[in-house]
Amino acid sequence: MCGIIGYAGHKSAANVVVAGLKRLEYRGYDSAGIALLNGGGSLLTVKTPGKVTELEAELGAMLAEKTEAGKSGLAIGHTRWATHGEPTQLNAHPHLSPNGNFAIAHNGIIENYLAIRDRLISKGHEFRSETDSETIAHLIEEAYEGDLQAAVVTALKQLEGTYGVIVISAMHPDTLVAARSGSPIAIGIGDGETLIASDVSALISHTKRVVYLDDGDVVTVTPDNFDIVSLKDVPVTRGATEIDWDIEEIEKGGFEHFMLKEIYEQPAALTNALRGRLVHKDQTTKLSGMQMGPADLAHIDRFIIAACGTSLYAGMVGKYYLEDFASIPTDVLQAAEFRDRNPIIQRDSCMLAISQSGETADTLAALREAIRKGATVMGLCNVVGSTIAREAGRGVYLHAGPEIGVASTKSFTCQVAVLAMMSVLLGRTRRLSAEAASRMIAELARLPELAQAVIDQEPSILSIAEKYAHCEHAFFIGRGYMYPAVLEGALKLKEISYIHAEGYHAAELKHGPIALLNEDIPVIVAVPESAGKAKTIGNMQECRARKSPVIAIATEGDTDIAAHCDDLITVPRCQEFLAPIPVVIAEQLFAYHVARLRGCEIDQPKNLAKSVTVE
Ligand code: G6P
Repeated sequence: MCGIIGYAGHKSAANVVVAGLKRLEYRGYDSAGIALLNGGGSLLTVKTPGKVTELEAELGAMLAEKTEAGKSGLAIGHTRWATHGEPTQLNAHPHLSPNGNFAIAHNGIIENYLAIRDRLISKGHEFRSETDSETIAHLIEEAYEGDLQAAVVTALKQLEGTYGVIVISAMHPDTLVAARSGSPIAIGIGDGETLIASDVSALISHTKRVVYLDDGDVVTVTPDNFDIVSLKDVPVTRGATEIDWDIEEIEKGGFEHFMLKEIYEQPAALTNALRGRLVHKDQTTKLSGMQMGPADLAHIDRFIIAACGTSLYAGMVGKYYLEDFASIPTDVLQAAEFRDRNPIIQRDSCMLAISQSGETADTLAALREAIRKGATVMGLCNVVGSTIAREAGRGVYLHAGPEIGVASTKSFTCQVAVLAMMSVLLGRTRRLSAEAASRMIAELARLPELAQAVIDQEPSILSIAEKYAHCEHAFFIGRGYMYPAVLEGALKLKEISYIHAEGYHAAELKHGPIALLNEDIPVIVAVPESAGKAKTIGNMQECRARKSPVIAIATEGDTDIAAHCDDLITVPRCQEFLAPIPVVIAEQLFAYHVARLRGCEIDQPKNLAKSVTVE
């Protein structure tokens, strides 16, 4: 989703900001822009619909004439994911105030912008864009009396909604002001340079020392300093964090796409997610971030999982684990639904917010609602220091490493692994026997090897993808642990290949969707060794009777399946509860190759965003 970057320092700010915007591309966007200081005390903006490379070309042409601006050490940039108004040049950020002295870039949504706009128009203001964000630039200009930070604070106090905002002014050639309310902002502290970004991936090539703003913080930044105050003008101290991953981890490393790289990283990501957490000798797991001893764990009598997208499907697998192994009733809710339904939270309920990014607006809102209702809350996040992780205060990090491809891959498999470990831990405070836990732990330790075995099948998955890449519709079916796995498989395919794909419980197919089947609509059936296998084979026959080609994902060496399918993808033999991991990796590779063969933009699919920060 929208991304912000700002720079104050001794380098060419234009270059730093364009490079930062490229790092933010993975979030998903449809226009981009930059504002920088022009030599003679004025601001200059360049904005384009489309990709950052188009912005870079236009900026390059402009700077060839305006060489002073090219030397400027102050600039802000933005990638916009359209909400209010189409992705046009005029609607792209940064937005200038009417007199051109202030430029702002904004993430989030200003809910009362129409009222503010009407008031300003009645005072003679003219607006250039259709965006809610432009009002912020107008308000700052209106409030300015020589103190930039004070003007920003006055403007922000009039806003309702969410913002991560960054401001520069022609009158303050070495200053950036930024603020946060609901949309993340981090400060990167360098040597004689300070950066601000909505996402640390844009900072990491300059510095690993980062300070995160909290909601209500306003920061004023110069190349050598930063000062944080609250909206009430009270000084605020926030500690710095050292980022513990490297720039190489967010580069493609020879892979054609981040998505493929991240699929291939799964054995290593799973190793990291499991590291130090499987305690073989005590037949349990250790998840210190949950900050709960056995007595606290034993008190939890219900879980409510709230999440979106891929994280929601991982949560569905988690429900099965918590119920099957820890005997704890668990509800899984789409995060927006959790909040809209005004959920019943009982005293010993625990709410688990699952989010790779830790920034998804609906999941964050659900978490806050659960906190308000007095629930014990936990976060299951990948991004360290993300808002959900911080506000939950306790939980488990995935340690999957940075995930850049919009379509989530290694986060799903690590989420499932962590949920399995949670169910062992909770199960051991209940009726999960030491022997059963021991078997689960031994199987969890095999996960990296299981993941690698599926990745090794890539050539055969590619040849199956070649057969079906032309199709416009597909169904995915499965039952039991394979039900969430097929929902995720269908999501992966539609996200990146734009094929209409639907996941169904295998038994549900005959209650409607079967009416659509024909020879042009393949059905991908997840049918590894499991209690429900025989029934799913029956469903495969139903599909073939309607001429649909059937692609089975089945256990290696299983001789029952080949006769009932047109194509076969095999996954290694494992205990049933862990089969979602190899099966989903096979689905990821299938979706990836179908999308690649169709010439799709895999890492940044149209209309999608990596981190959805609007509700
Ligand atoms: C977006 C992404 C999905 C992701 C979902 C939830 O829609 O495109 O891939 O699953 O957000 O993201 P989260 O960061 O909360 O897991």
